[in-house]
Amino acid sequence: MNPGELLEISGYFWKTCALHAAVKLDVFTVIGDAQLAGEEISQKLGGSQRGIERLLNGLAAMDLIVKIDGKYANSPAGKTFLAKDSAKYIGHVIMHHHHLLESWSQLDQAVLSGRPVRNRASFSDDEWRESFLLGMFNLAMGMAPKIVPLIDLSSKRHLLDLGGGPGTYAIHFCLNNPILKATVYDLPTTRPFAEKTIKQFELTDRIQFAEGNYLNDIIERQYDVIWLSHILHGEGPDDCRRIIKKAVNVLEPGGMIIIHDFILKNSMDGPLFPALFSLNMLLGTDSGQSYSEDQIIDMLTAAGVKDVHRIAVQSPNDSGIIMGKA
Ligand SMILES: C[S@@+](CC[C@H](N)C(=O)[O-])C[C@H]1O[C@@H](n2cnc3c(N)ncnc32)[C@H](O)[C@@H]1O
Repeated sequence: MNPGELLEISGYFWKTCALHAAVKLDVFTVIGDAQLAGEEISQKLGGSQRGIERLLNGLAAMDLIVKIDGKYANSPAGKTFLAKDSAKYIGHVIMHHHHLLESWSQLDQAVLSGRPVRNRASFSDDEWRESFLLGMFNLAMGMAPKIVPLIDLSSKRHLLDLGGGPGTYAIHFCLNNPILKATVYDLPTTRPFAEKTIKQFELTDRIQFAEGNYLNDIIERQYDVIWLSHILHGEGPDDCRRIIKKAVNVLEPGGMIIIHDFILKNSMDGPLFPALFSLNMLLGTDSGQSYSEDQIIDMLTAAGVKDVHRIAVQSPNDSGIIMGKA
């Protein structure tokens, strides 16, 4: 790697911060379908023309907006993914990333102490929790249509979406499997987000929300399939084993348990996203981490799960699926 490439990595946060500021100020929604002068955009945003024009020129240099005859318009990506009125808006997960920035700037301290430097988003204030949960919805809306067709649940009747957040995966599993019902189990503070999302997809008759803490509370009734997506990385190995055991205890004989998470190779030094995500868990949890394929397989096997295997998934952030039977 040459100095230029090293400095590109070192300075990448300039681009990150320009994008975050634009989403936070809602620049893309304000521009909409129009071509606007910097002065007009500054007036609509209620900010200084000096600052806002400089941001607009930076965004144009990043191809996030385009400058035509001195006026600014949305790029296709800006309009599709960054304007709030688009069904494909991903600004919630970008705001979630924005909330993580301060802690990432203190990574050296977390590395030395081995301790987190921020609160967990699930247990944080309303604004953080909202962008976290809606951010999870943004991410899962991209992944669920790819994952759900890979798993045959056509004969299953009741899925437990453990730590299901806004319920995006439960929703997509139900949309794809007409006889399936689902329970989204999550903390009480998640209920309004899940219920709103389930209603949006007109699935209130098939998907219910159950309040609970999977570390401390019991899980009620029995299920023939249990889906754990992106919850193991928030906990240490002992708690992961407890959660998996708890799940297996409410699985009918022959039922399926499916883990979806960012999975490291067994040497733990890649792929890139799970390796960096593990640092994110160091910054924000007491004992969370990314796990390797062997570690997840061992946890499932220790809980008595049989036929444990990984299925191939195409994912931009190297998430993977490992599943087995009770
Ligand atoms: C990273 S999100 C994953 C959401 C969803 N499964 C997905 O993949 O989109 C983790 C979820 O676990 C929930 N959670 C965290 N700790 C929990 C606990 N102790 N008991 C129940 N839910 C918990 C959070 O509220 C959040 O919805």
